[in-house]
Amino acid sequence: MYRFPWVLLLVAAVNMAVAAEPLRPGFYSETCPPAEFIVRDVMKKAMIREPRSLASVMRLQFHDCFVNGCDGSLLLDDTADMVGEKQALSNINSLRSFEVVDEIKEALEDACPSTVSCADILVLAARDAVALSGGPDWEVRLGRTDSLTASQQDSDNIMPSPRADATSLINLFAQFNLSVKDLVALSGSHSIGKARCFSIMFRLYNQSGSGKPDPAIEPEFREKLNQLCPLGVDENVTGPLDATPRVFDNQFFKDLVGGRGFLNSDQTLFTSRRTRPYVRVFSKDQDEFFKAFVEGMLKMGELQVEQPGEIRTNCRVVNGRPVDVLMSY
Ligand code: HEM
Repeated sequence: MYRFPWVLLLVAAVNMAVAAEPLRPGFYSETCPPAEFIVRDVMKKAMIREPRSLASVMRLQFHDCFVNGCDGSLLLDDTADMVGEKQALSNINSLRSFEVVDEIKEALEDACPSTVSCADILVLAARDAVALSGGPDWEVRLGRTDSLTASQQDSDNIMPSPRADATSLINLFAQFNLSVKDLVALSGSHSIGKARCFSIMFRLYNQSGSGKPDPAIEPEFREKLNQLCPLGVDENVTGPLDATPRVFDNQFFKDLVGGRGFLNSDQTLFTSRRTRPYVRVFSKDQDEFFKAFVEGMLKMGELQVEQPGEIRTNCRVVNGRPVDVLMSY
């Protein structure tokens, strides 16, 4: 008679239940002293290979943390019985540079096997991306664990569209205890990186079904956008999110004040009465922006939900379970 291997099931359950410790700075100072150095080193190499990859990696923290907390769920590839977050509306054909995260993970596994979580890698790498682009540098709190699953649907339900207006963004961020100031400061992440024509076609040619462009776009800038993204263009063509897309600075906010925001969701922060004062302050005072941005990133990095976790050895797949191994024979 076939006997189910209960002992192995127990082993699997214990493996899953990595105790959730509170996040703290220097979490790996004893278990993996070079961890933070390794992450920064790989990020520097990625920057030399392709400057945009810094922005692309930084974006991953937002898309991971908003969906069931900062748990590396975003990084999981689909499996036979799970459609993950990479397929979600805001992510597909858009998120990039996952290979940089793989490279960081491989370097960390060589130095300290099964120690540094993929969720922490995203938070460290986002911080490093900003610092390496000329933005602020800060200490992050670590000790996150990696999820055992991911959900396309959860991401679809949560992540905002580039069509979003300020009110819906304020409401969304409030659900995560992020203030109006946090929303504006965190949107300043669009100080680096690029977006596709796909994300702005509606505002160039049919804002809110009007058949007309968004009136908030400054006319000369609109001309430029029309040339970049004419009707019928390959919508994967990209344009910079602000006038200095490789430098993390407050140019993004100056652009918004001048009606030269790329995304509707960004320009709406200047159109709306509730967010405009912060845009103005950040456009004039880069230090204020940096301070608020760091606060926002720290708060976003704290988002956690109660769930089983582990330290994945490969960020794209959950760890193999003894039960699975046995059952596959
Ligand atoms: C406030 C709501 C937000 C909306 C609606 C939004 C939307 C978008 C969109 C539509 C793109 C371009 C995607 C494409 O065309 O493929 C983009 C790019 C980007 N987003 Fe956001 N975003 C938001 C907040 C954030 C936050 C909080 C961060 C990080 C802290 C972030 C980081 C980035 C970065 C760095 C890029 C450029 C990525 C690259 O060049 O590969 N965004 N965002």
